[in-house]
This record gives sequence, C-alpha cells and structure tokens, in this order.
Amino acid sequence: MIVQDFVSKPFSKHISNGSTTWSSPSNIALVKYWGKREPQLPENPSISFTLSNCKTITTLRYSEKKNDGNFSFDIFLDGEKKDDFKHKIDTFFNRIKAYAPFLEHYHFTIETKNTFPHSSGIASSASGMSALALCLVDLEKELLQLNDMEGFSANGDLSSEKKSLLDDYFLKKASFLARLGSGSACRSLQGPLVVWGHHDEIEGSTDLFGVSYPFEVHKHFRNYQDVILLVDKGEKQVSSTIGHNLMHGHPFAQERFKQANRNISTLKTILKEGNVDAFINIVESEALTLHAMMMTSQPYFILMKPNTLKIINSIWDFRKKTGSKLCFTLDAGANVHVLFPGNETQKVLDFINNELVVYCENGNYICDQIGIGAKKI
Ligand code: PMV
Repeated sequence: MIVQDFVSKPFSKHISNGSTTWSSPSNIALVKYWGKREPQLPENPSISFTLSNCKTITTLRYSEKKNDGNFSFDIFLDGEKKDDFKHKIDTFFNRIKAYAPFLEHYHFTIETKNTFPHSSGIASSASGMSALALCLVDLEKELLQLNDMEGFSANGDLSSEKKSLLDDYFLKKASFLARLGSGSACRSLQGPLVVWGHHDEIEGSTDLFGVSYPFEVHKHFRNYQDVILLVDKGEKQVSSTIGHNLMHGHPFAQERFKQANRNISTLKTILKEGNVDAFINIVESEALTLHAMMMTSQPYFILMKPNTLKIINSIWDFRKKTGSKLCFTLDAGANVHVLFPGNETQKVLDFINNELVVYCENGNYICDQIGIGAKKI
C-alpha cells in the first residue's frame, strides 16, 4: 500500500453526532525503533510484543460544527479537563488532516483513561494515540459507509472475504494514523507480535504502518509475561522526540540501523525455533544499545538510574544462579521490563518481591503479559 491509499474518499453519509469507544494497549519493543525521518518514518524496522493490561480507553464524542478551517476539541483524562494535552492533539490533527478531512467538521470531546497510573513513568503515547486513531477511523468508516465502497456489495451483506478486507484496511489506516501521532503507537493495534518498518525478509512490512508478525512463533514465546518495575515515576528529562532527532548525524547511526535489520533476521529464526537463550541475548543487547545511542549522542544524556543498573545486575545474577529464562528490556526511561515465559511466573514473582521491589519507587510494579491488541468497547 502507498500513502495515497489512506487519503479519504468523498463521504457518502451525513452524521450529525455520535460517539465511539476503543481500548488499545501499550507495547514493548524487542528490536527498538530509535531514529526517524519525516513524516514520522522509522530509520530501521522494529518488532514488539503487544501488552495486555497496560492500556488506554478512549471515547470520542463528535457533534457537527461549521467548517471554519479550525479544529475544535476538548480533552479529559479521568474526567478532568486537560488543556495541557491540547498542543499534542492539535499537532496530531494537523499531521493527519489530509487523511481525515472530517476533523474540521466536528467538535470533539475526547475522554480518555489509562489502566496504569499516569504518574508511573510508563509512556501512554503508544496506547493513547492508537486508541484515538481507532476512534477516528471508526468515525470515518461510518461517514464513508464503508460497506458501500467500490468492490463491496451495497446490501450490507458482506462476504467473510470482503469483511476481512475491510477489517484489514481499517486496521492499516488506524495504524497509519497512530504512527503520525507517535511512531511506536502504530505497533499497538494488533498482537501478539507486530513489525513496523520495511524489512527485506518480512513480507508486507512497511514504514507506513505496523503489521502482525506473519511467521510461525514457537510455543516458548506464546505466553510471555512482562513485569514493569517502576524505578522512576517522574517525567523524562529528554523526550523521545528529541532523542530520535539526535540520531541525525550520530556517529554510530548507520551501523545501528544495519544492526537492527540483522537482529530482526536473527530473531525470525529464534522465534521459529524457540531458542530462548538467543532471544535473551538479542533483547538485552537491543535495550542496552538503545541507551548506548543516547549516551553517545551530542548532547549526550542518560535515562537509566542507579536502580536500573542494580536491577539489571540482580537479573543477571538470578539467571546465573537458577537457570531462569528471565531477561530485561528498557524503554526510553529508567523503568525495567522483566520478560519471562509464563511457566516461570511464580518463581520470577517471588524473585521480584524478594529482591527487586526495593529498587522500585514506593515498591511499585505492574504485571502484564503479551496480548492480542486493541478492541472496540
Ligand atoms: O514512539 P516514540 O516516538 O515515543 O518512540 C519510542 C521509541 C522507544 O520506545 C524507545 C523504542 C520502541 O521501539 O518502542
């Protein structure tokens, strides 16, 4: 598909008001996206586990207004008006208006809530932007009466083949829009593994939107758990937008982009064969490489905290002592994601409670697991 495929067709239906609600999860990258070019296209492909419990639920209410060329919306988080989010949404609407021309025809009320505490240091942009994108595409679908579209029967009696084509387009468009809100958000719509960014060995992969990982996944990886250790709940000192930009002219950037491509090729074999040790090696190396890029950019910065390193060392010790298959990964922050196969849940939770909670702010952590993606509520 090409960008042009996402430009809206003329609307065939008039809708004066309504609402739609979507729930969309966060995701955690195994091979990281770090570095982008305009318009929010990744410099390398990435692959992530979709999460299950950490999610955003967004209701979009819309009522028709005069099209005066302006956006009109209010945003609420947990019932509280959040004018400080307006700038971000305004930028998002401006980026997507060519693909969502109805944006200027409605006043929107965006009511959003996260299942994880907002001061947890967990980025809500992936779940938040994907939930909002899904609401918008749902409205567009109504306006277009998609089942009347060219090639589809007008009686609304869709064959399952046609229905799945529609669903497929709907998901791709929502992922395409989510990407323009926050890059990694385009990986949150489906699950359990999603690839974003063109990779020569992954058919259908594209820089434009996330696609479900199309190959066989060994049973060892089907029930992975993710415990997020909340090391630092504060705001990040350096935003990921700034971090991505620092990859322009970064001395190691080109090598890093090649490495990410190689790591995805290697991971493809690992996921098929069920080699958990090799998986651990790639996932931890990717996390440290992401932070190494931050530490070697100009200006340089460090997002890990002393407790991040204490946790990493404890994980390595525990793995050595017990033969456990747990490993860690990091986002652009100090929190640590502990990944492990489902059959180790009790053993790893005991370890976390006995040895790692002391490194978490107020002893807080969140238990999650891989999931299947967004859904309409
Ligand atoms: O989606 P953004 O622009 O916030 O970038 C996030 C990038 C990382 O989370 C650090 C890595 C990734 O691939 O998710």
